[in-house]
Amino acid sequence: MIKVSGGTKVCALIGCPVEHSLSPAMHNAAFQHLGLDYIYVAFNVPPERLGDAVLGIKGLGIYGVNVTMPHKINVIKYLDELDEGARLAGSVNTILNRGEKLVGYTTDGLGALRALRHAGVDPAGRKVVILGAGGASRAICFALANHVRELIILNRTLERAVKLADELRRVFSFVGVRAGLLSENVLEDVLKDTDILINATSVGMKPNINETPVKRELLHGNLTVFDIVYEPLETRLLKEAKSVGARTVDGLWMLVYQGALSFEIWTGAKAPVEVMREAALKRLGEKE
Ligand code: ATR
Repeated sequence: MIKVSGGTKVCALIGCPVEHSLSPAMHNAAFQHLGLDYIYVAFNVPPERLGDAVLGIKGLGIYGVNVTMPHKINVIKYLDELDEGARLAGSVNTILNRGEKLVGYTTDGLGALRALRHAGVDPAGRKVVILGAGGASRAICFALANHVRELIILNRTLERAVKLADELRRVFSFVGVRAGLLSENVLEDVLKDTDILINATSVGMKPNINETPVKRELLHGNLTVFDIVYEPLETRLLKEAKSVGARTVDGLWMLVYQGALSFEIWTGAKAPVEVMREAALKRLGEKE
């Protein structure tokens, strides 16, 4: 059991909905493991209450906050300062309360980078194909753009991919970025010599577990396949990638590492990632 005293530091998640979040289990396990006097709770904050909720962070002295859907962009206008990464990506998932100032960070994209590195895959100098051009893809693209040789963004709605690629080109002067339509023809063409394939769409997520964004025949053993979907933990895409000899990374690693990076921003302590992953897995199992 977590001991709560008058001096316990409170961290929180704000989002809507938050009931099924794995973050409380993950962070409380980490605090407990390191014997830190912190507690993490989740607040369900509807969009019209976001401003009040952020004022409450200062008012109540809440120490650190995670921000999730649908507030990652709108929360920015209530903050005092943004870290460089959050400013570039235009998204915040972590707030540090420095007393006078609320500072916004984003750990989503770096979490993905750490997840890849944890699996022994360094995207530096690699050719990467990312599927999707929504918020998750955007966060990952901003974290990868400085490292990879080539980044191809494929999306069902071509215009969104084009817009994201244009922005990356502008922000990073990154000429190795291209956009395309998420279609079988294009996939067939680009995947042959690709090193890392990232699914940042929701295709394959529960309850649509029989769906996959890429046919098995287009996958190969030289690929690392990273799926940001973590329900189910082993998506059809990952199962089929494994079956052709590709290296696989599941979406729970990204969740764990974005959490680990937030934890480090708040506590200054090195996050116990294995403990966090175990706690998240246990919570996932309880939800089954
Ligand atoms: P998130 O913030 O999780 O990325 P999002 O902004 O709604 O959520 O983005 C979801 C992504 O999954 C988008 O790239 C979306 O494609 P569109 O831009 O065309 O909507 C993609 N996506 C969702 N369902 C899909 C499907 N059935 N087939 C292909 N792509 C899909």
